[in-house]
Amino acid sequence: MKLTDERRKQLRLTLDYTNMTDKYLGGKGISEKTIAAHKKIAKAAHTYVASNRGRDDLFMGWTELPYNQNEIVADILTTAKLIRRSFDAFVVLGIGGSALGPSMAHAALCHLHYNDLPKSKRKGPKFYVEDNVDPVRMKELLDVIDVERTCFNVISKSGATSETMAQYLIIADLLKKAGVNIRENVIFTTDAARGNLVKISKELGGVKSYVLPDGVGGRFSELSPVGLLPAAVCGIDIKALLKGAALMDKMCKSSDVYKNPALMAATLQYIAMQDGKNIHVLMPYSDNLKYVSDWYAQLWAESLGKNITLDNQPCHVGQTPVKALGVTDQHSQVQLYTEGPYDKVVTFLSVTSYKEKTPIPHGYEDIPDVAFLGGHTMEELIQAENKATAYALTKAGRLNYTINLPEVNEFTLGQLLYFFELQTAYAGAMLNINTYDQPGVEAGKKATFALLGKPGYELQRHDLDDAASDPDYII
Ligand code: PA5
Repeated sequence: MKLTDERRKQLRLTLDYTNMTDKYLGGKGISEKTIAAHKKIAKAAHTYVASNRGRDDLFMGWTELPYNQNEIVADILTTAKLIRRSFDAFVVLGIGGSALGPSMAHAALCHLHYNDLPKSKRKGPKFYVEDNVDPVRMKELLDVIDVERTCFNVISKSGATSETMAQYLIIADLLKKAGVNIRENVIFTTDAARGNLVKISKELGGVKSYVLPDGVGGRFSELSPVGLLPAAVCGIDIKALLKGAALMDKMCKSSDVYKNPALMAATLQYIAMQDGKNIHVLMPYSDNLKYVSDWYAQLWAESLGKNITLDNQPCHVGQTPVKALGVTDQHSQVQLYTEGPYDKVVTFLSVTSYKEKTPIPHGYEDIPDVAFLGGHTMEELIQAENKATAYALTKAGRLNYTINLPEVNEFTLGQLLYFFELQTAYAGAMLNINTYDQPGVEAGKKATFALLGKPGYELQRHDLDDAASDPDYII
């Protein structure tokens, strides 16, 4: 992507928080006085993030990903070229932070019916992200791919995630039975030294592997090889993605909340949370951005949903993320957002220029309900509905703000991802919690180990048996 200074300027994201303020929401909005009263805590959060940038021990390696991957990017681009030449399909095996990013970037930056396009119109092999262990899904994936002509990217930092490793066992077995050398069809993305995939790679005689850096957790890993390889395979310009992230980093250098969009967003969310607004709806007005909500839901929920502060004080914090899509969910959820409890903040992702405009032809001039649409474009229609929904929420005194993407492309998506990562880091610092761990997820993982008989989990197995459903309460 060619990025002149002028173009970079045109493609800058903006944050519009007009509809969060009391000036526009009356008593339901946030006043300048309240924002001013939070300038200190915002500044402290900014200082925490800025002064711990890149620290592996604090899992803040993600801040440096836009800058420290030149060699890796070159290697990924070479590998992606080889994969495009040699395979008909590319399958990501991973879950959580190892899968949501690749799905989201593919949906955002590739054709919405990518896999249905003829090969000549696709920039890469067919693309699948298998992030579940639904047996039907696995079987039906195998109905549509030829394992011998498929490259499998096994993404797991730990190499101990049951879902991903079960998938790998199935695929490795199939490749073996087909007489294929596993090494030829598999790429690992994992921790540099620890973890089972390193051991498996050695046993197989050295599988092509990419490193998920030590200080980068799953949900902050999209701009690492976790996301970059799958994206590059599908022809996404990964250098532009990283350049977009670097621009957002620059846009958020200031510790002044009024000059740093991610810090302002985090501060407003923090104020809203203190006031009991514990639900955050992310509503992109773009099908390409639909899965940004899935990726964001993990980032926001897993990072902020905690029960202990950094000073070991009990707490129960976090905001429940809700995924919505404009305009589709205007016809399902917006009724609740407009008239239901005052417990939400709605964030719109709006787009200035869609890559298609799609004119609406004139017709049925005698039916006013239909005729007025003729001569407009679908771009105008979706933008009008976005504006109208924000207006209706504002009139109803509902907190909402808009992040605007001038276009949806690699450079703007890179900005958006880094914006959300920074916003999450700032919000976590304001809440004084560990933003980067996930003990609640680990508990479920361990219980699964116990249920499936993993050695070392026998005691927990007894506990689980005791907690089995009581027939007295089953109707
Ligand atoms: O954000 C996280 O850390 C998690 O969602 C992990 O990405 C997820 O549990 C998968 O873990 P792993 O990469 O070790 O397989």
